[in-house]
Amino acid sequence: MNTIVIYKSKYGATETYAKWIAEDLGCEAVKADDIKKKDLLKYDLIVYGGGIHAGGIIGFDLIKKAYRKLADKKIIVFAVGMNPMSEDIIKELKDINLNKKTKDLRIFYLVGAFDPSILKGFDAWLINRIKGMIKRIPVVNRTDSENENLNRLNYGGNWIDRDSILPIVEEAKIYINDNK
Ligand SMILES: Cc1cc2nc3c(=O)[nH]c(=O)nc-3n(C[C@H](O)[C@H](O)[C@H](O)COP(=O)(O)O)c2cc1C
Repeated sequence: MNTIVIYKSKYGATETYAKWIAEDLGCEAVKADDIKKKDLLKYDLIVYGGGIHAGGIIGFDLIKKAYRKLADKKIIVFAVGMNPMSEDIIKELKDINLNKKTKDLRIFYLVGAFDPSILKGFDAWLINRIKGMIKRIPVVNRTDSENENLNRLNYGGNWIDRDSILPIVEEAKIYINDNK
């Protein structure tokens, strides 16, 4: 079984998770920018992880564009964001990132880290826009999750948790065992 973990991480949380998953699966973790579409064909099991920016899983186009050629592969996707896990998050991730072809992919969600003090340029601008969207909702009408989101956007934090990769590693190991 040829397995690989591919990731795209801007601030390091996704990279940390990708390396832990690769360690548990005994395979390599490779940056999405360092792999070509045709190289994907060498693998039977591909775990792809990307940070979430405005709902999109960064770098996921690599998998989407090669998807037809990967029909006989097992693909596991994880996305790393700053908000607490909820059913809405998975639904939103699927709505934004999957299309007709990829709609049956399962997306795992992991909580990463966020430091507003290091943001520059486009990222700082985008975060300000997201904050502005929440701030425009009258305080009395804001949901708990909107309040929590605003709090995390303002103050940041580190929610990286090694145990949260266990369901991903388990799904991969089941596939590996079933296809020995
Ligand atoms: C420009 C920008 C947009 C973001 N948008 C979202 C978002 O829509 N949803 C979310 O949960 N987290 C969002 N985040 C938080 C990141 O996904 C989170 O910090 C994650 O740990 C990033 O992974 P990385 O450290 O591998 O880059 C955003 C962060 C930045 C900088």
